[in-house]
Amino acid sequence: MTAKPKVWVARPLFPDVLARLAEHVEVDAEAVERRHTADELRRKLAGVDAAVVGLADRIDEAVLEGHTRLKVVANLGVGFNNLDLDALTRHGILASNTPDVLTESVADFAWALMLAAARRVGASERWLRAGQWPGSHMRFDDWLGLDVHGRTLGILGMGRIGQGIARRAAGFDMNVLYHNRSRLPEMVERECKATLVDKAELLRRSDFLVLVLPFTPENRHAIGAPELARMKPSAVLVNVARGGIVDDAALAAALREGRLGAAGLDVFEGEPQVHPELLMLDNVVLCPHIASASEETRRAMANLAVDNVLAALGFGEMAGKPPTALNPAVLTHRAAHKA
Ligand code: DGY
Repeated sequence: MTAKPKVWVARPLFPDVLARLAEHVEVDAEAVERRHTADELRRKLAGVDAAVVGLADRIDEAVLEGHTRLKVVANLGVGFNNLDLDALTRHGILASNTPDVLTESVADFAWALMLAAARRVGASERWLRAGQWPGSHMRFDDWLGLDVHGRTLGILGMGRIGQGIARRAAGFDMNVLYHNRSRLPEMVERECKATLVDKAELLRRSDFLVLVLPFTPENRHAIGAPELARMKPSAVLVNVARGGIVDDAALAAALREGRLGAAGLDVFEGEPQVHPELLMLDNVVLCPHIASASEETRRAMANLAVDNVLAALGFGEMAGKPPTALNPAVLTHRAAHKA
């Protein structure tokens, strides 16, 4: 009898999802959430056929070197800037991510941040919880925020999530502008009621600017001091993409000095650390990277990662056809090698 393949699951996952894996493979699942060092990753990956990893697990040449057994790395996230795809491909290891299943939840959350930042939900709630309402003689013109309806929404990065955010804007009677590497098909533009503009115009005209672009070396500090200087002083910036796309120090300075109205941030440079100046400001809503964290969506992401692992190891209905492979050419090479 041949031994079952072994799979390492780097984050605690829903037991029923792990049970799907355990029907076919030997599962080594982390029971406690923790950050793995490069050494730990190297050791763990050396002894398994597949791994399900999180966004904090950096999988690069250094941790892959010398591995011959590893066949699949399934990322729990649509963004995969934690994976060195070239290195994985060089080693003949399939990589996958979790697109589509989180699109609508992340789009919902971008709106949660837009509304919360514009209408001062975080700051006013902190004030109330601190017991300051009774006896405060709250004035008619206290806690004034920015209306969302009827404003101009700018979206930087118009993939599936950006389109989801744009579609929701119809209910708020907003004017939607976007900037993207390539223009959307006309039909999609019509559905989203969105108009393509260049980045400078997007910065200049947006009352709300939502960032949904992938984190690549070119996109590092896509919003830094020069870009912030081009935005309206009343504008609200929302980042549900990745830390590092925004220069957090420059953002904190703009918010502190009233050069930007407010911000809603789900991601940070160097998270889980947050720039200390952002923590001091009341005109920013800060969340711990939870845009995809609804019950249904996190389950769907976990299931999709497991689908990819099982399919890549040759199990189940999708055997040999992982549904969301990032480097599917690896499978063709493997097949050619076997023949
Ligand atoms: C992703 O999937 O890339 C998100 O950031 C996870 O919440």
